[in-house]
Amino acid sequence: ARDIQLAVVAGDGIGTEVVEQGLLVLETALSGSGVGVVTTEFDLGARRWHATGETLTDTDLDAIRTHDAILLGAIGDPTVPSGVLERGLLLKLRFALDHYVNLRPSKLFPGVTGPLANPGEVDFVVVREGTEGPYVGNGGAIRVGTPHEVANEVSVNTAFGVERVVRDAFARAAARPRKKLTLVHKHNVLVHAGHLWRRTVDAVNAEFPDVTVDYLHVDAATIFMVTNPSRFDVIVTDNLFGDILTDLAAAITGGIGLAASANINPDRTAPSMFEPVHGSAPDIAGRGKADPTATVLSVAMLLEHLGLNAQASAVESAVAADLAERGSRVRSTAEVGKDLAARVAG
Ligand code: IPM
Ligand code: MN
Repeated sequence: ARDIQLAVVAGDGIGTEVVEQGLLVLETALSGSGVGVVTTEFDLGARRWHATGETLTDTDLDAIRTHDAILLGAIGDPTVPSGVLERGLLLKLRFALDHYVNLRPSKLFPGVTGPLANPGEVDFVVVREGTEGPYVGNGGAIRVGTPHEVANEVSVNTAFGVERVVRDAFARAAARPRKKLTLVHKHNVLVHAGHLWRRTVDAVNAEFPDVTVDYLHVDAATIFMVTNPSRFDVIVTDNLFGDILTDLAAAITGGIGLAASANINPDRTAPSMFEPVHGSAPDIAGRGKADPTATVLSVAMLLEHLGLNAQASAVESAVAADLAERGSRVRSTAEVGKDLAARVAG
């Protein structure tokens, strides 16, 4: 077996701290498997922008493309104007590498207490579209700063883009025991995009007749995510609704410190990227306080994406075992990483 060529973008704030632990667990999971990991670190984020004014150059992108996968920590810093790194680096990576499936699983692990009194069994995955919607930057403003300012952010939804993510979501639903797909949108208001999504789901459903389809407007979906999260199996939705829903999903399943994600290019024309859902958390950065668990779970998704299923399960089981015994113990970032690695090593 060939070694994994891994591009590492630790990024800003707690990104470097959690990535260090993610790599430790990754290396531990692979030890003895015959597959190694070769990392290339990319200096991207606030430091680089301050030093050079660059966010992500074509040279960076070309170099990243030669890797099998990307592990990303977090992007964003209060010293950089809002949007510069988000658009110029994180979203640029997702768009340029065609990460049209932004996969965000939510599972309430035994031992984890969330804010819900009676959550029941929570185990669903959000398939968030990753390359379109209001994120594309199709907008503009006129008469800025005047009482007559007009500011537009146009949501772009293409038949091609919607169909490919919907088909991926159906395939994921078909592979799960409950085989249920919920489309979340707002077609009573966003009639153009909403109807495209609805028609697409109906059409692709014909290819997956054993998948049950359900529809919720996004506002109602937020209610059910709190009152009855067990009703969800696979959710498919657009880029912005998916962004919002997955923060709520993280909140009900133990918080953002546990939420993993994968930005997947299912056609494998470019490397997929694995990152915790959380941000750079400048308020706690550099203090060893960040929970690396979300990054470690993202590493499990990375392993699974590369076909290393046994190693992926070992990492997920290590996290499950740690969470089962975690209680309210406070450990540093490095301690959690070390404990998880020890469990993976068995
Ligand atoms: C996320 C983040 C990003 C997003 C930001 C930082 C651009 O919130 O990964 O969910 O909106 O996608
Ligand atoms: Mn988000």
